[in-house]
Amino acid sequence: MNPAYYSLLHVFSLFILSAHTFMAFANPAPENKKRTMIVTGIASLLVVVSGVGLLHKLYGGQFPGWVIVKLVCWLGLTSLAGIAYRRPHLRSTLAIIALLLTLTALVMVYIVRTM
Ligand code: HEM
Repeated sequence: MNPAYYSLLHVFSLFILSAHTFMAFANPAPENKKRTMIVTGIASLLVVVSGVGLLHKLYGGQFPGWVIVKLVCWLGLTSLAGIAYRRPHLRSTLAIIALLLTLTALVMVYIVRTM
């Protein structure tokens, strides 16, 4: 398959993961928890599947260092919505962590990868 489709899926599922994570921070009501966990879980799975697809297509299955950093950022971002429901008083800290993890992953792909 054309790598552009993996890129599209990668970025689109990242938007969904990020949007629903921030929705959990804005309103961590228990009645929304199940839906948020399902949506972020599926989006997170699509992020990693499309990321591995891109690795396979563009880097012949190699594992550059910047991808390992992105994997750590992805793991962190994936865990944050669940933490927001269990520890709602930490929401503002979790939001900062989410922004920093996203920024780090973007620095990896747009700066570190091209150096
Ligand atoms: C917070 C997590 C992540 C963010 C914010 C992120 C963001 C991005 C963005 C914006 C692109 C550029 C897409 C394009 O130019 O078409 C990209 C490409 C890519 N991502 Fe991710 N990503 C994340 C996680 C991952 C993970 C977990 C993997 C690996 C399993 C991965 C592997 C890749 C690869 C291989 C590329 C292609 C790089 C290239 O064009 O040379 N990403 N990512």
